[in-house]
Amino acid sequence: MLSVNHLLGIKDLTLKDIELILETASTFKEVINRPIKKVPSLRDMTIANVFFENSTRTRLSFELAEKRLSADVINFSASGSSVKKGETLLDTVNNILAMKVDMIVMRHASPGAPHFLAKHIQANIINAGDGTHEHPTQALLDAFSMREKLGEIRGKKIAIIGDISHSRVALSNIFALQKLGAEVMVCGPSTLIPKYMKDLGVKVEHQVLRALQWCDVANVLRIQLERQQAQNFPSLREYALYYGINKTLLEKLDREIVIMHPGPINRGVEITSDVADSSHSIILQQVENGVAVRMAVLYLLAQKSKPFD
Ligand code: CP
Repeated sequence: MLSVNHLLGIKDLTLKDIELILETASTFKEVINRPIKKVPSLRDMTIANVFFENSTRTRLSFELAEKRLSADVINFSASGSSVKKGETLLDTVNNILAMKVDMIVMRHASPGAPHFLAKHIQANIINAGDGTHEHPTQALLDAFSMREKLGEIRGKKIAIIGDISHSRVALSNIFALQKLGAEVMVCGPSTLIPKYMKDLGVKVEHQVLRALQWCDVANVLRIQLERQQAQNFPSLREYALYYGINKTLLEKLDREIVIMHPGPINRGVEITSDVADSSHSIILQQVENGVAVRMAVLYLLAQKSKPFD
């Protein structure tokens, strides 16, 4: 049983919770590779995917995970909804819950939005990304994919390269990987690395080749222009020149490293196609594993009794 009623962030999870999610995801990965991919586990549940920000991978893989578990599913996008007429977040979600919905999967631009909801409603909430704060299911599917590729995460060196300041994936990955016993480094220009990174016990590196020489896995992040106030340094051209991961850089290494990216990819900026599509890359395996990991999270949270304490 998980120690939490909601999945708001990796910070709240124990190592035992993470191990339970990853083990359960392994079982579900076997299920979805069978000719009959569905199980009846959540056939008495209705789940709403409530997205206030754009998404391809997260929204679709949650929907698929819910359907593989036989739940009824409704999808809400803020664009085209009554949010545009001024309806609040809490009113929106309470109206969805009035339709006898049991669980909410939510993406929102404001850090802390799912934590706010968790205090006000009696339904399980899964954070599908809250602003620049956390993206817990991305970190769980990243950990699952690393373990699948490397066998073990404990003792491995993971470099997270890119726009750390505006990334929710970075923070959730740092929390998950440290709990699982990895060493974590962040790499990028100083303008895109928050000062508090050193307080989290991660290494900070500004030279990309040094980061690649150090790590077993490079998790490459895009530049999140949509969250930047002003486009100062670096421009995308400068970023690609100094920090873009390309084949020439990888050829300078004396061993193979694993390349990951949460998507969407900005080809030619943070990563070139000859790396993203190479045998080093497990980017599409990450997407594949996202369904099994999200099935595990949904299944395990559904075991938690309601109303909550
Ligand atoms: N990795 C990720 O969250 O992708 P989407 O924004 O497409 O969901």
